Amino acid sequence: MWVVLASVAQACTVGSGIVQRFLQEGAWVVAPLRSAASKRRLTDHLEAAPTDKLHTPVADWSTEAGAAELAKFVKEAGLQLDHVVSVAGGMAPPGNVADITPALVQEAVTTKVVGHVLLAQALLPLMRQQATSSWTVITGMLGEVCMMPGVALTCISNSAVFGLVKVLQFESKDSPLRVNELRIASIIRRDSEAQNEAFPGVPAAPASKVGALLAGIATGQQRDEVIRVSAEDLDKVPAFAG
Ligand SMILES: NC(=O)c1ccc[n+]([C@@H]2O[C@H](COP(=O)([O-])OP(=O)(O)OC[C@H]3O[C@@H](n4cnc5c(N)ncnc54)[C@H](OP(=O)(O)O)[C@@H]3O)[C@@H](O)[C@H]2O)c1
Repeated sequence: MWVVLASVAQACTVGSGIVQRFLQEGAWVVAPLRSAASKRRLTDHLEAAPTDKLHTPVADWSTEAGAAELAKFVKEAGLQLDHVVSVAGGMAPPGNVADITPALVQEAVTTKVVGHVLLAQALLPLMRQQATSSWTVITGMLGEVCMMPGVALTCISNSAVFGLVKVLQFESKDSPLRVNELRIASIIRRDSEAQNEAFPGVPAAPASKVGALLAGIATGQQRDEVIRVSAEDLDKVPAFAG
């Protein structure tokens, strides 16, 4: 049975569907909490999934010390990771280029980029080295395209993650590990909510559909791909059959 590490906890909209789906698939799931207070908010979203195989170590993996602690937890638990789903940060604060400051750019990069780097440094060495293993980075379409005002920081920081994915793919080319990026071009909401509160009134796909796609990538053949997914694609994803 898989061991999956998903770097998502409490509030993460997309992450709520990913953790839930892997638990439904019967995987052992490690979902690190960046703070102890987060646990209730994670498990609140998991009514539809068994939680007996869920590890929730407290380790703020978005810092160097926390990432090292997370790696120590994985090693001490004797876990070899089959799949890692790397998620860091949501939408960056709003603004056009004229509005943003160097401090805001740095903050967006810290929140949306640095965590992916630290996770790769800490956990790539702990992956099971076989072609069935996968490392998947979650990003959004903003940055590949910019189709609305006020999203400068999100575009800039997403683009940096696109670059990181290319580097990870290059650096792992002699390993059997599959490194993919899931680039989401749709608004996502928690299954338990009618909309994404950052985008009121805008149609949103449930996070469980993203979780289903991730389970498909884990068992699939994709290697070193950018997998773009639209709202229409998500519509076609079947619900978990049990
Ligand atoms: N939701 C959407 O509509 C949507 C659409 C397209 C793409 N995406 C992509 O999906 C990913 C997750 O988005 P989301 O909307 O699910 O996010 P979200 O609900 O806003 O949650 C933000 C997540 O980022 C974490 N975080 C906060 N500060 C961080 C830091 N300094 N370092 C690392 N992680 C930090 C939070 O962790 P804690 O819970 O521990 O604070 C939380 O898990 C993003 O890459 C986003 O671009 C989302």
